Amino acid sequence: MRTLITKIKELHQTETSDTNSKPITRVAGKAMAEIPSIKDAWLVIENGLIQGFGSMAELPELTADEVIDASGRMVLPAWVDSHTHIVFAQPRDGEFTDRIKGVSYEEIARRGGGILNSATKLNEMDEDALYAQSLERLTAVMNQGTGAIEIKSGYGLTLEGEMKMLRVIRRLKENAPIPVKASFLAAHAYPAIYKNDKEGYIRLIIDEMLPRVAGEGLADYMDVFCEDGFFGIEETDRLLEAGWKYGLKPKIHANQLHYSGGVQTGVKHNALSVDHLECVGEAEIESLRHSSTMPVLLPGAAFFLGIQYQPARRIIDAGLPVCLATDYNPGSCPSGNVPLLLSIACTQLKMSPEEAINAVTVNGAAALELEHELGTIKTGKKANIIITNKIPSLAYIPYDYGNNPVYRLIC
Ligand code: NIG
Ligand code: FE
Repeated sequence: MRTLITKIKELHQTETSDTNSKPITRVAGKAMAEIPSIKDAWLVIENGLIQGFGSMAELPELTADEVIDASGRMVLPAWVDSHTHIVFAQPRDGEFTDRIKGVSYEEIARRGGGILNSATKLNEMDEDALYAQSLERLTAVMNQGTGAIEIKSGYGLTLEGEMKMLRVIRRLKENAPIPVKASFLAAHAYPAIYKNDKEGYIRLIIDEMLPRVAGEGLADYMDVFCEDGFFGIEETDRLLEAGWKYGLKPKIHANQLHYSGGVQTGVKHNALSVDHLECVGEAEIESLRHSSTMPVLLPGAAFFLGIQYQPARRIIDAGLPVCLATDYNPGSCPSGNVPLLLSIACTQLKMSPEEAINAVTVNGAAALELEHELGTIKTGKKANIIITNKIPSLAYIPYDYGNNPVYRLIC
């Protein structure tokens, strides 16, 4: 099957087809402000892969099964959402109302709500029903341009509950038309019965859950909610070390609510990414500077919880890369809408539209080790692409906030 897209107003995030040039695997610092493009372009897709592209002035003789006239439309790589919790059983709108009245996210968690509330609901839910509603969420975010996604466990908090979540993620992997990666996040909160036996829960994760999860090949990454009041540095250390023994690279929640040392711990364990980063100062930036760990910012969660935003400018101006992800979950960010995330990143984090789009394409792919398959327009890469509505510029995507720029997602 061959699809030819012609008369593209502007084809964005293009890499040169020159085989001597180095492939782009991530962009950092000043380079984040640039998105290479070709105006009045064509793109051809053969069996799901990008087969070629260029300027309409040099369109070769081609036959195709489908020809799409993209006059007035932009084409760009689909979003890679590298941090979500879309497998959950119930919304938490009651807690949302409590927070409006002044009860904090941490206080709700201390009272046994929050993640524990989601865990109770998830353990009660039948696996098929959980799969069906998670697939609905996945389909909805694809309609907003998401072309690859990471999904975490972490609402099971029992051996069976975690296995159930990871099996649901595996079914999504098998059946969804986009790449899906799974992270094992049993260390999301201490279940109520381990409230006074934290060591017992750590042992359960390390001695029982990890061997089962890894044995069945259910996870790609190891995640920990490293935070004061959740899993401290010492516990995170042990958990990440245990994950590595099974080949699970760390991808952790760090520095959301406190300067907890989570970023440094992630870097120490060679984490693929450290995610959240509301609390980032010089020490965190310095530590990231000497690593290949990707800083992943989740401003949708900061927006929804009404807490401080991540200092994206400081991180980029320090020459580092920045990745953006939604954190779609029922507590701190019940939205997987990447276009809206881009608007928040531009208006609140003061990222330019180009920086924000780099953060959810090329850097999103890097945060999931998909940089050789996705994230840029390059011959041989997967053709997971967005064809936009008729829009005047790339900046129009975050400008037109709350609206969906996607005319068609090809994947
Ligand atoms: O990334 N911070 C930890 N985990 C999720 C929220 C989980 C929840 O509230 O259900 C997050 O924000
Ligand atoms: Fe999260």
